Amino acid sequence: MKINIAIDGPSAAGKSTIAKILAEKLHYAHLDTGAMYRCAAYHALHSGVNMSDEDALANMIRDMEIRFDPHGNVFVNDLDVTKQIRTNDISMHASNVSTYPKVRQELVAMQQEIAKNKGYIMDGRDIGTVVLPDAELKIYMVASTEARAQRRYKEYIEKNIVAQYDEIYRDIEKRDYQDSHRAASPLRKADDAVEIDTSNMTIDEVVEKISGLLDTIHR
Ligand code: DC
Repeated sequence: MKINIAIDGPSAAGKSTIAKILAEKLHYAHLDTGAMYRCAAYHALHSGVNMSDEDALANMIRDMEIRFDPHGNVFVNDLDVTKQIRTNDISMHASNVSTYPKVRQELVAMQQEIAKNKGYIMDGRDIGTVVLPDAELKIYMVASTEARAQRRYKEYIEKNIVAQYDEIYRDIEKRDYQDSHRAASPLRKADDAVEIDTSNMTIDEVVEKISGLLDTIHR
């Protein structure tokens, strides 16, 4: 029987990379919930919605369509925004809009609806604590700020996105603070989550570690 797996942690800890690989290996679906907050920020920016107006943002989300294709591409109302939502600018705007309870309420409802039939690996900040409190396996993935900034920098360069290491480092610190200090569902390790520090681990080692944890669960 399929289960749901929650992976939470600060930005650039490796959540999405690991979730994607695990999903392929287990024939599960992957939902990158951060991409949904990014889509909300992107759409607000490009449709002139005031990003300080909580109600306007919530209404906008209710009226927009966020869609993922099987290759991991992301669409807002049929517009491919896969690359556009990964800029440093959108990262910060996404963190800002994610502080609003009404924005979270809309996106969390969508996420819960998607995962109700199990078989999902969902990554984000509040999956184990709020979105899927009953997930059978919860991982809390962390890594040092240096390791995370290095990874993000490399990722940007590989994707031909203009990037500066110092700026990425500062933005990660800023987002860490904001994501873990906001009043509405801040980033927090669920009591029953397993913490994995990926600073000095390869991707394969992290996948192996989680696969080992899965083997201990009766499925
Ligand atoms: O995972 P990410 O860096 O793509 O997420 C972008 C922002 O969205 C992040 O700074 C905080 C917010 N977020 C959130 O509040 N809750 C989630 N479940 C996922 C992301």
